[in-house]
This record gives sequence, C-alpha cells and structure tokens, in this order.
Amino acid sequence: MEGPYIDRRRACGFGYYETMGVTREDKEGRLGIARKNFEFFDAPHVAFFSMPSNFVFPQAVDMGILLGSMMLVMVEKGLGCIAQGSLAGYQEPVKEIAYIPEDNEILFGLSFGFIDHDAHINTVRMPRADLDDIASFTS
Ligand SMILES: Cc1cc2nc3c(=O)[nH]c(=O)nc-3n(C[C@H](O)[C@H](O)[C@H](O)COP(=O)(O)O)c2cc1C
Repeated sequence: MEGPYIDRRRACGFGYYETMGVTREDKEGRLGIARKNFEFFDAPHVAFFSMPSNFVFPQAVDMGILLGSMMLVMVEKGLGCIAQGSLAGYQEPVKEIAYIPEDNEILFGLSFGFIDHDAHINTVRMPRADLDDIASFTS
C-alpha cells in the first residue's frame, strides 16, 4: 500500500493506540493490541469466510458482499461484529478445527457477539475519509 491508502491505514492504527493509551514508541503495547485479533477481541464467536483458492477478483467481491450483508444482519439483530483480514494469516490451525475444504483459502474472519459496552476497546472510533476523497461526481 502507498499514498492515501497507507496514510489512512496508519491513522486508523494510531487512533486505536491512542484510545487504548498506547504510545507509538511502546512496541509491546502495540503488539498486545495486534494480538487481540487472535483472541477475536474477546468475542464468543467467529465465522471464517473461505473460497476455492483458484477463484479470483469477482468471486472475492462476492465474498465481500456476503461479509457486508452478514454484518448488517448482525447489527440489525443487536449484535456487534468485526471483520478481520488478519485471521487469514494462519490458515492451517483453523483448518484443523473448522470444516473448511482443503482447497479453499480463508479470506477473512468475522468475530461477533453481544457488545460489551463497558469494554474500553469498544470506544475506539475510526476516522472516515471525506466523500470527495473517495468518489468523484460529474453532471
Ligand atoms: C475485509 C476487512 C478486514 C479487516 N481486517 C481487520 C483486522 O484484521 N483487524 C482489525 O483490527 N480491523 C480490521 N478491519 C477493520 C474493522 O473490521 C473495522 O472496520 C474497524 O475496527 C473500524 O470499525 P468501524 O468500521 O465500525 O469504524 C477490517 C475491515 C474489513 C472490511
């Protein structure tokens, strides 16, 4: 990633650390937050999304649509959820415990459950890019 994409990614990361009281210099603290991904941010459930590994962009878009739709349904039912691309980083341990066809590749996970409103991590709010920075309009 480069340009505005890496800038936005960094801004999200630093926003996260700031809310959690971790400084940029605190490598251990930052690692601790990154590790939360692999504890599913304390959510009781996680769904893994996989597709045959010979599928390409259009099918990955379908998977993204499925992910987004499931997130909307969960929120509508009063659940909280977090999409996690990081959960695609370790495919084999997941395949040992979940039914995922051997030829499939995990794209992302979705941790979910009822929201713990007292958990400080749930107060993290990510910045949003301005509409004009991500779309152009002509008339
Ligand atoms: C496909 C996808 C993968 C993501 N992967 C991660 C991840 O691995 N770890 C993480 O902390 N956030 C990840 N995010 C961002 C969070 O899911 C979430 O969007 C972020 O915490 C901000 O929440 P908000 O979108 O409600 O503001 C991912 C988002 C998407 C759409």
